[in-house]
Amino acid sequence: MQTNERLYVGRPTRRVEGKLKVTGAAPYSAEQGQEGLLFGVMVPATIAAGDISNIDTSAALAFPGVVDVFTHETKQNVAWWDRKWMDQTASPGHPFRPLHSERILYDGQPVAMVVAETFEAARDAASLIRVSYRESEHVTDIRTVLDESYDPPKKRSGIPAAPKPRGEPEAAYEAAPIKISADYWLETEYHNPMEMFATTVLWEDDEHLTIYDKTQGSQNSRDYVCSVFGLKTENVRVDNAFVGGAFGAGLRPRHQLFMAVMASLKLKRSVRVEMTRRDMFYLSHRPSMLQTISLACDATGKLQSVIHHAVAGTSRYEDYQEVVVNWSGLAYACENAKLTYELTQVDTATPGDMRAPGSASGNVALESAMDELAYAAGIDPLELRIINFAPYDQNDDKEFTSKALHACYRQGAAQFGWEKRNAEPGSMQEGNELIGWGMATGFWDAQLQNAAAKARLSSDGHLIVSAAASDIGTGTYTMMAQVAADEFHMAIEDVTVKLGDSTLPQTAVQGGSWTAASTGGAVQAACLAVIATLLKQAQAIKNSPLKDAKADEVTVRDGRLVLIINDQTGVAVADIMAAAGVSFVEEEGKIGPSKLQMLKYISYTHSAVFVEVRVDKDLRIPRVTRIVSAIAAGKIINPKAARSQILGGVVMGMGMALHEEGMFDHRSGRLMNHNLAEYHVPAHADVENIEVIFVEEHDDLASPLGVKGLGEIGLVGVGAAIGNAIYHATGTRVRELPITVDKLL
Ligand code: MOS
Repeated sequence: MQTNERLYVGRPTRRVEGKLKVTGAAPYSAEQGQEGLLFGVMVPATIAAGDISNIDTSAALAFPGVVDVFTHETKQNVAWWDRKWMDQTASPGHPFRPLHSERILYDGQPVAMVVAETFEAARDAASLIRVSYRESEHVTDIRTVLDESYDPPKKRSGIPAAPKPRGEPEAAYEAAPIKISADYWLETEYHNPMEMFATTVLWEDDEHLTIYDKTQGSQNSRDYVCSVFGLKTENVRVDNAFVGGAFGAGLRPRHQLFMAVMASLKLKRSVRVEMTRRDMFYLSHRPSMLQTISLACDATGKLQSVIHHAVAGTSRYEDYQEVVVNWSGLAYACENAKLTYELTQVDTATPGDMRAPGSASGNVALESAMDELAYAAGIDPLELRIINFAPYDQNDDKEFTSKALHACYRQGAAQFGWEKRNAEPGSMQEGNELIGWGMATGFWDAQLQNAAAKARLSSDGHLIVSAAASDIGTGTYTMMAQVAADEFHMAIEDVTVKLGDSTLPQTAVQGGSWTAASTGGAVQAACLAVIATLLKQAQAIKNSPLKDAKADEVTVRDGRLVLIINDQTGVAVADIMAAAGVSFVEEEGKIGPSKLQMLKYISYTHSAVFVEVRVDKDLRIPRVTRIVSAIAAGKIINPKAARSQILGGVVMGMGMALHEEGMFDHRSGRLMNHNLAEYHVPAHADVENIEVIFVEEHDDLASPLGVKGLGEIGLVGVGAAIGNAIYHATGTRVRELPITVDKLL
């Protein structure tokens, strides 16, 4: 009998931690604490650039219940002056140092924190702090500093530079019969996970801290705290067992972590600092950006030239970089390409990675431009993309590990009914509504990161798998349980998953859609290592029926170590452990990218997004009534959680296309809509019918599990597809997101 079929991997599986979450039994960082906990409330700056000339804390200090007030004038006792405290995902430059000096770098920068016996006292006292400023000149609008744009002098780690130009892009553009060229604008967007950033520090003594931190990487936060405050790695434990969303905002340690640890060490007390929704708008954001794209094709639609230039906003103190234009050199086959990427500085906080950073932004320009080119050429937009299918990555001259994009196009179009589309803008109407159908392709990379995990099988049949990995709502707990349960052919209920703890085996931050492939692969490796150890122990038994078996020929089933090809031959795990004199077997597994393979191959996820919008003829209010998103992302471990990831990405794409926009008063340099009343996101009534298709994609090269990851791909393509649908409905091409009613009137 074949005993290696998978019961959980590849099947819709309910979240193993779901009950804890829906019953409120899962504690988040701001729900941790102990008797005597102190509460910190921060005060944000109200100018964009300048210096604090005076800060009056006397009324706050006199307020009942207040324990201390921290400003740049109080001594923080930090060790950060040695510059050795870059976090895993920092950009080149000088990371923001809270309360470091009187200098103001951006509106909303924390300038003080009140610590009190109760949250209410801290909040009231914070309102009594009076800050005077000497303002200096500021700029918050990248449109006014485009002529100051520059090539980032130092490249951000993990972010490849724009590729060198290939062919003769300008000459080919000039010579081509069909061409378009346009500017596309993006305003700043904010992550806004439901759970606020919060840190609860449990103080044990001057050297030992347990920290509950909302972060996408407990070990990243731990390393930051240890280097900034000069503590020892083994004395600081960071726990992020439950995280209520992050979307990239939690990749970097956030300043509430610094504030809470600083206060805790100074006061020798346990301290919690939780951000307000307003504070959340001053952490980081998807940068505002100008993109200029020129595309040219011949009469058959074959691309002749791709020229893509982007200027993105960054802060005064860090050169934040993401991959924006490179996608345009690998998305479609073209011999002539020129891709350039520059930054320009404004007086805001440093932008940060926000779900599908760079790709979501670059894609809006490229995929809108492809739609414009399709109209210029008189070719169906889907057909134009198929004509220009890229069989390999021309940027790097590498083969794709797999690319089931044709299947995405085919299945997505069939499900959507694309063949019934009348290409003429404004040609499809119903009642008082203009109907528009648009589509776009999406791209994200699939990268394996170094990851480790442990598996511990007990003689009673219980399994514990653990890794420092995070679950920011993506389904990591369940994914790890599925992979582990299948390796031992056991019920998922018999598996306990531990994650979100800096003392567990090393993993990267949860970002980049890396976790399922990386941590999932490490869990599998750990389980296989346990099986190998069990086999050695079984073979030490006299007359062992497994004495000639090799590690890859055995598995565990029904609590027995058996031959894969014949599960009648084997030994009970309990008997093996008894014979070996142990009550459990624990092993660590590690995986990482294969350098050799990476010389030849590169791995991406792909999507085809089809959108229907309906636009009121008179009021020009757009509604997204239907989206079909067809995804190729290798092996899908949990179709249920995976679908949920794509749904979330699609809704975020709707926000990007139609709602989300940081509104600055550029005269004062201040963000005006730092709340969820005025910063618009899609609400339930905005979201109608979304269908998700996972096309079959077999990939042995992307990762050991065949997984590519899908935290981000669901977003990419949605913004452009909506804009393209709106053009099809109305004949109006809006090249500035979000596409609000005023731009359609
Ligand atoms: Mo994602 S923006 O890498 O958390």
